[in-house]
Amino acid sequence: MFLPDHRISILPSALLLLLNAALTAAQTRKTLPVNFVVSETPPIAPFYTLPTADQLAVSIALCTGSVDGPIPRFFLTNSSTTASPGPDGGDDVFEITLDRGHGSYTGPFQSGGVLAVTDVPPQMTFEIGVSDGSTIHESTSSSAIFGDTTASQALLFSPAFSRLDNPQPQYPNYTLPRAIPSIPAAPSDPKNYTLIVSPTSNGLTSMQQTACALSTQKSTGIVANESFWLRDASGWRTEWLMTGLTPKTNYTAYVILDAYKVTLPIFFTTKSSTFSCSLVSKLPYCPSISYAVPLPPPPAPAATYDNTNLPKAISDPLISALTNFTTTLTTFACGRDLYSPLVTCADCQQAYRTWLCAVSFSRCADPDTAPPLAALLPSQSPNARNAAFPSGNAFTQLLPCLETCTATDRACPSFLGFRCPVPRFNANVSYGVGYVDSGQEGEKGGGSMGMWDDAFGNVWCNSGL
Ligand SMILES: *[C@@H]1O[C@H](CO)[C@@H](O)[C@H](O)[C@H]1NC(C)=O
Ligand SMILES: *[C@@H]1O[C@H](CO)[C@@H](O)[C@H](O)[C@H]1NC(C)=O
Ligand SMILES: *[C@@H]1O[C@H](CO)[C@@H](O)[C@H](O)[C@H]1NC(C)=O
Ligand SMILES: *[C@@H]1O[C@H](CO)[C@@H](O)[C@H](O)[C@H]1NC(C)=O
Ligand SMILES: *[C@@H]1O[C@H](CO)[C@@H](O)[C@H](O)[C@H]1NC(C)=O
Ligand SMILES: *[C@@H]1O[C@H](CO)[C@@H](O)[C@H](O)[C@H]1NC(C)=O
Ligand SMILES: *[C@@H]1O[C@H](CO)[C@@H](O)[C@H](O)[C@H]1NC(C)=O
Repeated sequence: MFLPDHRISILPSALLLLLNAALTAAQTRKTLPVNFVVSETPPIAPFYTLPTADQLAVSIALCTGSVDGPIPRFFLTNSSTTASPGPDGGDDVFEITLDRGHGSYTGPFQSGGVLAVTDVPPQMTFEIGVSDGSTIHESTSSSAIFGDTTASQALLFSPAFSRLDNPQPQYPNYTLPRAIPSIPAAPSDPKNYTLIVSPTSNGLTSMQQTACALSTQKSTGIVANESFWLRDASGWRTEWLMTGLTPKTNYTAYVILDAYKVTLPIFFTTKSSTFSCSLVSKLPYCPSISYAVPLPPPPAPAATYDNTNLPKAISDPLISALTNFTTTLTTFACGRDLYSPLVTCADCQQAYRTWLCAVSFSRCADPDTAPPLAALLPSQSPNARNAAFPSGNAFTQLLPCLETCTATDRACPSFLGFRCPVPRFNANVSYGVGYVDSGQEGEKGGGSMGMWDDAFGNVWCNSGL
């Protein structure tokens, strides 16, 4: 064998034999197969042959080491006259520069090419992907979405996929979604997302930010449920319920797509062990709600509330209010007459739904782990806002963002009489004011945070989104 340690992960053994025969013929240089990923471990061969193709995307992912540590250099050429591409240049020699463990090159290889690797630190392992389509290894700019935590649980969502094509209703058949909208079947070819959760103290962010490096870390906690959920108009997402987490601990979460693409990390903190609220999600009439509400733990074996076990005393009035609102709204000749050049009855109904859900489901906060200046309303009894919630344990509420109210005010026709409190009077009694937009002028994004949450798991007010 010329390359005793090479390992080709996905190739069936028959192909492997063929490939080995080809290798023997090509004398010492392994030809990288197209649309496969090759995993390389020491001793690393210095050169690889790239096949002839109109276009190839060659990608590298380092699987060991830290982002600040020593890394190998990769050079490639698509010229038939350069046998050993390297740092000294030459005809059509390109360096694949690495960023946090990833690098790629896409171009024509009309007469094949050569990939070279130099300066390989000891023990370095890496993957090489060659594709005649899109780049195999990638750090994507998307990230997981944080729902909420309790002391030991977390709700997390993947980036969206399979966006729904929801055409605007048209006059004369202007039909708005019902209060309980019908949910289409989950996509039959969902994206394969894998969640990695690890205490932030384990330092995953200083590792190479690649799937092969991060996957070596055993994910913390237990994935108690994994399902698909249509949380918002962006499309379907994988929803994960994690259990078995440690109270008051910072966690880092990554999502890996198809084993080779990695999202940016997000961070979140579990609540104190005294936190007594329960998570609710997967409500068809409030699809974006996924946070802790002032309810006792659900009856076993359920770990959280969803459409199957949420008390009807909570859901029925909400659904009735949505139905009544929609009936009143459609007394307007939606789609024929305009009440605004910017928004439609469908936008109004959507905004009202978001607002109604945010104010009906009080969001619990933990004063010990909430960010400074969050819109906390301390020591409420659950029935202070919504009589359908059982009274009992006092809890700290994270107030709805005023912008969730003003968005509804702006999206709806004025004859509905939907009004929000004004910041200069007493809006801050029932809403988080000045976090997203500045309180006085209502300047968009000009508030103290310019947003209602961030990638560090800080949530300053409840947007209902
Ligand atoms: C090599 O790549 C360069 C840059 O993309 C391209 O202009 C050239 O045509 C390629 N040569 C061959 C033989 O594919
Ligand atoms: C009106 O639109 C709804 C949904 O868009 C559709 O289900 C229904 O069949 C339509 N009715 C008529 C009379 O076109
Ligand atoms: C996960 O959640 C879905 C929907 O809420 C439910 O139908 C399913 O039974 C749950 N799976 C497990 C293993 O609990
Ligand atoms: C979580 O991390 C943030 C910043 O990274 C830090 O300020 C905070 O104290 C940490 N919280 C806990 C509970 O460790
Ligand atoms: C999803 O990807 C993981 C690796 O990230 C792999 O182990 C698993 O087999 C894949 N599942 C499917 C259904 O393709
Ligand atoms: C909706 O309208 C019905 C009939 O007018 C009324 O009985 C019900 O109380 C209304 N629901 C809410 C939540 O206002
Ligand atoms: C609301 O804002 C007023 C001043 O605008 C302030 O005096 C009051 O303390 C605030 N109340 C709360 C609950 O934050």
